[in-house]
Amino acid sequence: MEILQKPDEMQAWALARRRSGAVIALVPTMGFLHEGHLSLVRLAAQRADTVVVSIFVNPTQFGPNEDLARYPRDLDHDLQLLAEAGVTMAFTPTPDLMYPEGFQTEVRVKGLSQVLEGKTRPTHFAGVATVVSKLFHIVQPELACFGEKDFQQLVLIRRMVADMNMPVSILGGPIVREADGLAMSSRNAYLDAAGRASGLSLSSALGLAQRLYADGERRAAVILDAVTRHIDSFPQTKIDYASLVDSDSLDETSMANERTRLALAVYIGGKVRLIDNALLAQQ
Ligand code: PAJ
Repeated sequence: MEILQKPDEMQAWALARRRSGAVIALVPTMGFLHEGHLSLVRLAAQRADTVVVSIFVNPTQFGPNEDLARYPRDLDHDLQLLAEAGVTMAFTPTPDLMYPEGFQTEVRVKGLSQVLEGKTRPTHFAGVATVVSKLFHIVQPELACFGEKDFQQLVLIRRMVADMNMPVSILGGPIVREADGLAMSSRNAYLDAAGRASGLSLSSALGLAQRLYADGERRAAVILDAVTRHIDSFPQTKIDYASLVDSDSLDETSMANERTRLALAVYIGGKVRLIDNALLAQQ
């Protein structure tokens, strides 16, 4: 596996590869890799002969009171996992290289960045859209893989690509979970034993909502009431949002249908914030 840090070197490498006929797939990450990330690497490898994984804890997508400084990092271990997974290139830039002095451009997807996560994290998605757009220009992938774990991010990137005619196909990968149902996340490293137990409130609430839907319940208010009471019954949980939204538009739904998704964000013990989501019609 090769490793590059400098955007201009990465761009030159990608251009040369493309000219020699390679199909490049990109998997953007912030590192501290787990099976969720690696499932996207495998998805990429099925569709492309050249897989580039970027590892970059992007400062512009963190709010002023968020966890940028303590976000978990382990670059050596990440590189080892990627080499074992057969990745062609790891791109590991630094903030100075991505945002040199004088940088002032922002990519913003207006409506989609303001709902759900955007209400609590108003600057988050401009940071995501800007860095992903930079990564697309640097790595020039024909396809890029994103996880359904961050469903709003996936929808927003698809919107950006369509709106800006970016020549990249976006592939979504299913959420990878721990054996007990907790969605894998680099931020799970913040959970102590009690927090880990309360973290299960999210995946079990998704299961509860799916059972209600399978039994014929369609009223959003009824489903959300059951979900809220379920999560509230776990110690140290505080719901940020529990919303039933359309999978494409992310508009809130009052009557559920086959495209309706339950999106959850829950604070665990005050400091840790977990997100999860699922299609109601999925079992
Ligand atoms: P990060 O949180 O590291 O996630 C990188 C990719 O892995 C994202 O597409 C995310 O949805 C996916 N992912 C994370 N956990 C997953 C899981 N349990 N199952 C399936 N996929 C999972 O998302 C980001 O980084 C950043 O916002 C980024 C896109 C890199 C821009 O900075």
